[in-house]
Amino acid sequence: MAAETLDQIVSLCKRRGFLFPGSEVYGGLQGTFDYGPLGVELKNNLKRLWWQHNVYERDDMEGLDASILMNKLVWKYSGHEETFVDPLVDCKTCKARFRADRLGDMPCPKNPKKHPGECEGELTEPRPFNMMFKTQVGPIPDPESFAYLRPETAQGIFVNFANVLDSTNRKLPFGIAQIGKAFRNEITPRNFVFRVREFEQMEIEFFCHPGEDEATHEAFIQDHVRFWTERCGLSPERLTLYEVPKDELAHYSKRTVDIMYRFPIGVEELEGIANRTDYDLGSHTRDQEKIEITAAVQPNAHSTQRLTYFDQPNKKHIVPFVIEPSAGVDRGVLAILTEAYNEETLENGDTRVVLKLKPALAPIKVAVLPLKKNEPAIVEVAKSIKNSLQATGLMRAVYDDTAGIGKLYRRQDEIGTPFCITVDFDTLGREGDAALKDTVTVRHRDTMMQERIAISQLKSYLLERLV
Ligand code: GAP
Repeated sequence: MAAETLDQIVSLCKRRGFLFPGSEVYGGLQGTFDYGPLGVELKNNLKRLWWQHNVYERDDMEGLDASILMNKLVWKYSGHEETFVDPLVDCKTCKARFRADRLGDMPCPKNPKKHPGECEGELTEPRPFNMMFKTQVGPIPDPESFAYLRPETAQGIFVNFANVLDSTNRKLPFGIAQIGKAFRNEITPRNFVFRVREFEQMEIEFFCHPGEDEATHEAFIQDHVRFWTERCGLSPERLTLYEVPKDELAHYSKRTVDIMYRFPIGVEELEGIANRTDYDLGSHTRDQEKIEITAAVQPNAHSTQRLTYFDQPNKKHIVPFVIEPSAGVDRGVLAILTEAYNEETLENGDTRVVLKLKPALAPIKVAVLPLKKNEPAIVEVAKSIKNSLQATGLMRAVYDDTAGIGKLYRRQDEIGTPFCITVDFDTLGREGDAALKDTVTVRHRDTMMQERIAISQLKSYLLERLV
């Protein structure tokens, strides 16, 4: 089972502190969300897992963290100034604005049973709306002193291609991975964190020899399906691959395959994997006319660097081809929450909400609970177990005694904590069974199965199961 409606997720996120609407105390700011105490842990765990999978477990990847603000020429020569547009229409009656290609997603503000255009309101002809945010750089507000907030992290990688190549002595093929914020002035942000104006991307630009691009593309598609299913726990039945039709491809792409996920709002893009050919390095390089470039690049780049690779065997400079897996962190969080969300009816008729998160993604790994909070010896042992697990630096451990044990279990189930440890009178050796002294109950979130484990074994027991 998974969440069936977005409301189930939104309500859990607000109730338990995963996500809050941005600037809520002033009525909010559309298209922004703030990650709360548990949300930030889940999001960091997803980013860590992605970095582990794509950087640490490969021999052909470097990392980067480029600036959000970049010289505005980057966006001219990347093609974004000209083409990073959505079609905008106005309703002549209610004056609301909509994305012309997604009218079916939106209710008419005056007549919510209908979509814009189906109501009495007449729509204007579509016109292009550039989605890049502008900001002023420096204290003098002249028309040239602006910069864009980056709408994709990718360009920070392209403009650093030569820096990374020179400083690492890499040979083709190799990739550069980056996780960071991106900003888009979406016409109609909606569906919780699915479409927002400020979000994070996890991107790789993987550079290879022309001719090796198509096989590399396929390999990344398969590998990233494995990432989302095997490492993040998304079920294969909810994932599909979408071959983006030629007439819908971004200006830089020769082929794009989207990894689609069945969100509660429908089947939508989670990650796009594009073959960007030699378009970006070709567009940003100086000496364009002296190098062979296959893509229809932005001409006359004013860049100061040659973004090429010296192909030793053939003794010539080439512009590498680029495969780009690009995933949204926030959409990843939404997919993971959707998949993990379960409402269960228990044998005794009670219901529980349980987040069946992969342990590596769970915000809290272990909760240590005293069976009785007014029994000082139990509390002391429970706190010392929590402290020793916390001191390993390998897991987030919490102590909680603010309710009865049943309620504490439910609370931890709802936030996805894989293990609860209960300290009781047996632990103290006061219940007659000497064999249980210095042992605790470990309760498993998904099965609710309980077993007795020696305190001395706890650390290794948990570490084995938290990967
Ligand atoms: N560098 C390529 C690129 O940016 P994209 O398909 O426009 O490609 C990549 O974006 C990913 O970023 C998407 O698959 C999605 O997960 C995420 N994304 C894009 N726009 C978003 C938005 N407004 N809100 C949340 N995530 C978004």
